[in-house]
Amino acid sequence: MCGIVGILGRGPVVGQLVASLERLEYRGYDSAGVATLEGLRIERRRAEGKLRNLAERLHRQPLSGHIGIGHTRWATHGRPTERNAHPHATENVAVVHNGIIENFRELRAELEQNGAHFSSETDTEVVAHLVESYLMNGYSPQHAVQASVLRLHGAFALVFLFKGHDDLLIGARKGSPLAIGHGNGETYLGSDAIALAPLTDSIAYLEDGDWAVLTRTTCVIHDADGTIVHRETSKSGASSLLVDKANYRHFMAKEIHEQPMVAGQTLAHYVDIGAERVALPLTLPFNFNSIQRISITACGTASYAGYIAKYWFERLARLPVEIDVASEFRYREAPLRKGDLAIVISQSGETADTLAALRYAKSQGLHTISVVNVQTSTIARESESVLPTLAGPEIGVASTKAFICQLVVMAALALAAGKERDKLHEIDESKLVRELIEVPRLIAAALLIEPQIEKLARHVAKSSDVLYLGRGTSAPLAMEGALKLKEISYIHSEGYAAGELKHGPIALIDETVPVVVIAPYDAVFGKTVSNMQEVAARGGNIILITDAKGASEATVDTLMTIVMPDMGGSFTPMVYAIPVQLLAYHTAVVMGTDVDQPRNLAKSVTVE
Ligand code: G6P
Repeated sequence: MCGIVGILGRGPVVGQLVASLERLEYRGYDSAGVATLEGLRIERRRAEGKLRNLAERLHRQPLSGHIGIGHTRWATHGRPTERNAHPHATENVAVVHNGIIENFRELRAELEQNGAHFSSETDTEVVAHLVESYLMNGYSPQHAVQASVLRLHGAFALVFLFKGHDDLLIGARKGSPLAIGHGNGETYLGSDAIALAPLTDSIAYLEDGDWAVLTRTTCVIHDADGTIVHRETSKSGASSLLVDKANYRHFMAKEIHEQPMVAGQTLAHYVDIGAERVALPLTLPFNFNSIQRISITACGTASYAGYIAKYWFERLARLPVEIDVASEFRYREAPLRKGDLAIVISQSGETADTLAALRYAKSQGLHTISVVNVQTSTIARESESVLPTLAGPEIGVASTKAFICQLVVMAALALAAGKERDKLHEIDESKLVRELIEVPRLIAAALLIEPQIEKLARHVAKSSDVLYLGRGTSAPLAMEGALKLKEISYIHSEGYAAGELKHGPIALIDETVPVVVIAPYDAVFGKTVSNMQEVAARGGNIILITDAKGASEATVDTLMTIVMPDMGGSFTPMVYAIPVQLLAYHTAVVMGTDVDQPRNLAKSVTVE
């Protein structure tokens, strides 16, 4: 998946294109490129790697066109080289693309047979050649795009620039998001409102199958049948300020340290702190008593928030929960009961598999709630009810503060469900809400252990495998810990339910493997101690994350015991996530990896 932008400007646009791409780099950073009309000719500048490489190229070989398109790439088809970087162009058209053209092989063979010469390994280049072939047959740009789009299978957001047309951009969308921005004598296209925020806050979103013809002063949108349609323009809430790192070395460090604040903000949105009651910000269009089962779907870190929430819904509301990673859910054709509830969790609100899961649940007649951080996102717009996480923009690819806020929202929702189903009495509700209210303070206290974790990271950085174990809600947190470590330090790590240790992972243990055990002193603590003993007996190095009581009761030698602040037992993952995040962060720093933009990953995955 990638970020795309197009600008019909009144002056030179290349600076604005690069500024927009900077805001889209979260979608990929394998390569970047722009194309403008210089005179009436298409000129391109492309560079492998991060956007700064493109900026340097543009410094040496400037462009001055008043119309242009830009792209930042996460490679799907073809290596991340300059040759494969977008825009892809033929003599008469240049195109940027986000998505995957599934039938590109057939199209390429056909076009090559008709004499087209390809210069990249990408799926996207067929789009340029296809449009070119229609132009060669006398089609207008608009009709060439319309005819081409009908032949494309897969998902795409596309923006086209045409030789000789300095007041024309055409955008098309199917599956991948595309927004239109209206400025003063200027118009824009972009993957999201955030990319266009420095240019305008007047945003309209294309719907699936739409294609739009833009000049500097007009915008005509057609649906898949070619009928002219109206798409509402509204004021976007996206900030035009590019978030900075403040005094931190990395966005991830800043975002970890923002967690007491954003957890507090989110909490205040979902509970009445004074009354010690849960208070959702909206009235849900169903009653939890009519729900027989909840289906939670998400990807990556958000899915672990879902796994943790499953424990809460089942315990506090006595409601069965199924949790799926979205890429599996969408093809499983899971039997769902009309009138039940589907919850999707997503920081970006654009993850393709999660969006598909939402659409599937809607098609089966389920109520849908999205827990999203970007409120202008496609998932937010398409779900019946939106419960926002108020984490603010999250830039580090490894999710931290969004995860904590997802947990806060899911905990509040589980409490609301328990209350409505009469499974939680007032007294329990206020006890649990009091526990929640304490969370921001406890996160701040947990952050104080950072120097100890920094020391530990120097040890972990020497390992080639790390295991994370936990029971109850600490089991999915163990999986999140392993994900965090592997994605930014590239050290192989696995997260397991501690009880599963003896069914396989125990074979991995020797004196070179650190085993991180997440074990607050709770009802299953004794069982986890037994699992630690099994690790110790095989020479494993235990790093125990527990509280004071757990530290004094654990009868096992550890490499290090990290003592967490005392807290109630219901919502421990919100606080125990801190050492797990810090360990991944500091290990990555010791390893010298690109913490905020780890290799091969992207912040928002808009392809399946
Ligand atoms: C990517 C990111 C992860 C994120 C996942 C789900 O893989 O690298 O950090 O957890 O997508 O993203 P979402 O925006 O749906 O939460």
